[in-house]
Amino acid sequence: MSGYGSSTDREKNEGRPPVVDLRSDTLTKPTPEMRRAMAEAEVGDDVYGEDPTINRLEARAAEIFGREAALYVPTGSMGNAVAMRVHCRSGQEVICEEKAHIFSFEMASMSAVAGCLARPVRTPDGILRWPLVKEAIRPKQAFRAPTGLVECENTHNMAGGQVLPTEAAEEICDGAHNAGLPVHLDGARIFNAAVALGKDVREITRKFDSIMFCLSKGLGAPVGSMLVGKKDWIAEARLQRKVLGGGMRQAGVLAAAGLVALEKSPSRLHVDHENARLLAEGVGRLPGVALIPPNLMTNILIFDVAKTEMTAEEFSQALAAQGVRCHAITPTTIRMVTHCDVDRAGCQRAVEAAERVVRRAVAV
Ligand SMILES: Cc1ncc(COP(=O)(O)O)c(C=O)c1O
Repeated sequence: MSGYGSSTDREKNEGRPPVVDLRSDTLTKPTPEMRRAMAEAEVGDDVYGEDPTINRLEARAAEIFGREAALYVPTGSMGNAVAMRVHCRSGQEVICEEKAHIFSFEMASMSAVAGCLARPVRTPDGILRWPLVKEAIRPKQAFRAPTGLVECENTHNMAGGQVLPTEAAEEICDGAHNAGLPVHLDGARIFNAAVALGKDVREITRKFDSIMFCLSKGLGAPVGSMLVGKKDWIAEARLQRKVLGGGMRQAGVLAAAGLVALEKSPSRLHVDHENARLLAEGVGRLPGVALIPPNLMTNILIFDVAKTEMTAEEFSQALAAQGVRCHAITPTTIRMVTHCDVDRAGCQRAVEAAERVVRRAVAV
């Protein structure tokens, strides 16, 4: 889509081909349209509810998700922390998948900010399902911290961008609700899930009590995430956002880019998925490399390099030396994430670089 810079036109690397940065979809830079919207944004004091651009963004997010209200928060982590503070009280447990971002990558905010304990559930594929959640719910008795919340992640970052099937999500929501528990969705990449499922975000999130989604990942905004839910719940979330220091003032300059991201970016996410597929097909057939999981669904590719006899760190450094950046996420696995600032040619270069790395490893 025009307006989105490619790896070729964005970075000039002193005559060398531009760096292909696949570390994360958080790395995207605002498009010219976002920058224009930011420069022209009408603003006011959002703590007073007087920033017209933020008000528009919140109204639009609520409308897109078919909910009563929404709240602009600085980050996805703050959105999740606010959600836990509204849903739970201190001393409760939060059930989540074992590799969930909320559990492992949010600086223990579950305990430090919400006063809760994680009850992580191990799954073979990163997909949480009701029977496992049911088993993890604590019976009401002395000795056991009561369960306060069930949390799902869609797409699941550390499970290779896996999509939570809508039937599995709804079964969890129905089961949890029958057990008197709310369900929060970390939908940082929910628009990627919607594209993969060929469904609307409204449809795939309808049973969750609250949803957090990020404007700043695949959608390409420089800053910001949203919470959506019922009017009273969002009113309480607004207070908790202030408790955490997230009451911003004339942040309409940021929300303006978020509005562009929300309106324009979902329709181009399929390009990131196609580019990720190109990566998966190219990297997945290299000797010693195994995709985890084997079925790529969205824009996140995880692969194991143990059989190349290199550590993931060595592999990623060898790629970096060729201008391809990615993350070693465990001693043997690497994550690559496609996004609007990496084009197909960049992904092709990444595959070729990986081929050279593997060829050298095999030759040693
Ligand atoms: C699944 C998921 N949830 C939440 C977050 C947190 O978002 P932020 O970086 O805006 O705090 C991330 C960030 O990568 C994520 O991948």
